[in-house]
Amino acid sequence: MDLFEYQARDLFEEHGVPVLRAKVADTPEDAKKGAEELGGGTVVVKSQVKIGGRGKAGGVKLAHSPDEAAQRADEILGLDIKGHVTKRVMIAEGADIAEEYYFSILLDRANRTYLAMCSKEGGMDIEELAVERPEALAKVAVNALTGIDDAKAREIAETAGFDAETTDKLIPVLVKLWDVFQGEDATLVEVNPLVKTGAGDIVALDGKVSIDENAEFRHEDHAGLRDIDAEDPLELKAKQLDLNYVKLDGEVGIIGNGAGLVMSTLDVVAYAGEGHGGVKPANFLDIGGGASAEVMANGLDVILGDDQVKSVFVNVFGGITACDAVADGIVKALQILGDSASKPLVVRLDGNNVEEGRRILDEANHPLVTQIDTMDGGADKAAELAASR
Ligand SMILES: Nc1ncnc2c1ncn2[C@@H]1O[C@H](COP(=O)(O)OP(=O)(O)OP(=O)(O)O)[C@@H](O)[C@H]1O
Ligand SMILES: [Mg+2]
Repeated sequence: MDLFEYQARDLFEEHGVPVLRAKVADTPEDAKKGAEELGGGTVVVKSQVKIGGRGKAGGVKLAHSPDEAAQRADEILGLDIKGHVTKRVMIAEGADIAEEYYFSILLDRANRTYLAMCSKEGGMDIEELAVERPEALAKVAVNALTGIDDAKAREIAETAGFDAETTDKLIPVLVKLWDVFQGEDATLVEVNPLVKTGAGDIVALDGKVSIDENAEFRHEDHAGLRDIDAEDPLELKAKQLDLNYVKLDGEVGIIGNGAGLVMSTLDVVAYAGEGHGGVKPANFLDIGGGASAEVMANGLDVILGDDQVKSVFVNVFGGITACDAVADGIVKALQILGDSASKPLVVRLDGNNVEEGRRILDEANHPLVTQIDTMDGGADKAAELAASR
């Protein structure tokens, strides 16, 4: 999960990284108020969008008074930066910048390590610098167990070519940025620019942080960082119901048990769809073991809430949860959903207790349910139904 700059700034502050005072605002009036609270002097109004290149797109502007801050906010709110519309701005104290540096820590998957990158030439064009003069961007591997201590921070600053005095000032800041990276379970911490002020202090003026969502269980406080507005409403609903659901762009809803089976179901449906006007799978949904009526109902509810879905393919291989329990689950789920279940369901059951499972579905004789014995056959039927509606 990528964070907004103001959220990264707050995390930096919690970990003792030097940052400037700042306020967020959703309206020009709030921007004016924020600028007043910061003392009424020079501020920077910054678009809060999760995409780089804000400055060049006109999303970072200086303002010399609270009234001017309101004007700049008015210009920036609503500004579209590469498809990201600005809904919020950050008002930060104006910094007296003497020099702009670059620093980042990231996960280096290819080398199975962490990597610190650092340059004396930070600012807005770091991507160009990395391509045109890679020697100006120091890259230092960081061991996950030892992290960035004083000695590692010194190595990074010296590799980047900083003089002794600046190196001494950078060391504690780099150590604290590692603290952010490790303590928050981040996969990226990037500061561009990290500046030296006229007074010689090091300050993080910008911050990009990505959080590893797999570590969510360790960070209850991270729940507040989610950008609910930007999430797909169906995925959000599925998440609240604790379902493993990923929205895709097709017409055939998919429910299966076990990630492997669901993945192959997607392939088989996509293949069958080629014979039916190119219909495609609408989602990934793994209901896992123990497919209770409630889980089945929740899964169907999410899938049927997708307007694009024209048919649903339920592909279950009975294992520890036998087919009769799954069949019961489907019957009860359809009862729970009542009239809101309005799209045809193709069900393929196989595995443990399949005879009983099929018997339960036959007996229920629900008008929306068609049973097919094989996976290929079920995929074909579901694709055909989706194409004909
Ligand atoms: N608080 C500040 N005071 C003075 N100047 C600032 C301040 N914040 C940013 N700037 C100037 O604006 C430039 C761009 O700001 P920033 O790095 O935050 O955005 P950006 O790099 O354009 O956006 P992105 O990081 O999304 O690419 C900085 O390099 C710096 O020169
Ligand atoms: Mg920047």
